[in-house]
Amino acid sequence: MRVYLDNNATTIVDPKVFKEMEPYFVQSYGNPNSLHEFGSETHPALRKAMGQLYCGLNADDQDDIVVTSCATESNNWVLKGVYHDHILNGEKDHIITSEVEHPAIISTCKFLETLGVKVTYLPVNEKGIIEANDLKSFITEKTALVTIMWANNETGMLFPIEEISQICKEAGVLFHSDAVQAVGKIPVDLKKLDIDFLSFSAHKFHGPKGVGGLYIKNSQPLTSLLHGGEHMGGRRSGTLNVAGIVGMGEALELAVKNLSFENNNVRKLRDKLEDEILKLDDVFVVGSRDERTPNTILVSVKGIEGEAMLWDLNKNGIAASTGSACASEDLESNPVMEAIGAEADLAHTALRLSLSRFTTEEEIDYTVGILNNAVKRLRAISSTYSYAPDWHDSKL
Ligand SMILES: Cc1ncc(COP(=O)(O)O)c(C=O)c1O
Repeated sequence: MRVYLDNNATTIVDPKVFKEMEPYFVQSYGNPNSLHEFGSETHPALRKAMGQLYCGLNADDQDDIVVTSCATESNNWVLKGVYHDHILNGEKDHIITSEVEHPAIISTCKFLETLGVKVTYLPVNEKGIIEANDLKSFITEKTALVTIMWANNETGMLFPIEEISQICKEAGVLFHSDAVQAVGKIPVDLKKLDIDFLSFSAHKFHGPKGVGGLYIKNSQPLTSLLHGGEHMGGRRSGTLNVAGIVGMGEALELAVKNLSFENNNVRKLRDKLEDEILKLDDVFVVGSRDERTPNTILVSVKGIEGEAMLWDLNKNGIAASTGSACASEDLESNPVMEAIGAEADLAHTALRLSLSRFTTEEEIDYTVGILNNAVKRLRAISSTYSYAPDWHDSKL
């Protein structure tokens, strides 16, 4: 059996989405900017897709959404655009983010630091989220932007986005949210929130890879990252990825239609898996279930390196993640666990399991069996594991 439990990394393209995309590879493959019919026949599909994105996010205006190549591009665009428009001229010099953002934010902030930008990396509490009051105390008149994710990719923990947006609004500071792990999993209603910029990515909600988006409230000025042929109203140049845009629109419409399924059935399966995992000795799950996206579990299994568990599961057809970039023989710890302040034996033993609406109960039952056996076998040969009943309470 093959079981895919790495849906926070990427998801299967919904076959309905693929069907909608197919004609734009092999029939209507024209460049939408061309004057002939091959080009113009793509326009209705593009209009439909942009409408689906606008409705799916409940944005104020269809023109507020710009299609990009991925959320990494969207995040880079916001940070570098704000740098160009508000920091380079000396007006402001400061950006606030959190310690547990995706590398698409953290690495871009590090880059901007080399250009003289001051960046505050807000610490997170034991649940892995920032305290809104901390944010308040770090905003100054020199702060150009606050960028805080909506849901964490490792833990699934939801940040207090409404409160954060309110604080930024009151302080008159621009607010960006990397909502890659929220869009398509929980309700995202842009009419209800004061967010200036919001990043999303199709491949996280059963759309294709290589296409994402940036919501820009009221189409406010933001210097382009990609200059060229003035596509997307001059805001983002590059020949339009017609099939990708069609796929992203369809995928978001389906995700929004399936949100209650996601919140009930996916959650039920996630909770079943979590209940079974928690029957094991010496395991620790980050954050409480109702504060997380419905599909995610980040669990530490004492005595078993995350990578060892990953390989064991993989051998049995199960795909999961450790959340760390294991590039060499050096086993790395999960960066979010580190930010939470977890001790090394927790941070090194993290395993992320992320479900989707395509996950079945049979797959969960199979995973539970394999996981139980793996834990027994790997702990028996572990040099670091010995049973300690008070372990749960003593490590965080
Ligand atoms: C929170 C978050 N932000 C950004 C990204 C990057 O998205 P993309 O793959 O579209 O560049 C990811 C991908 O894992 C993510 O989880």
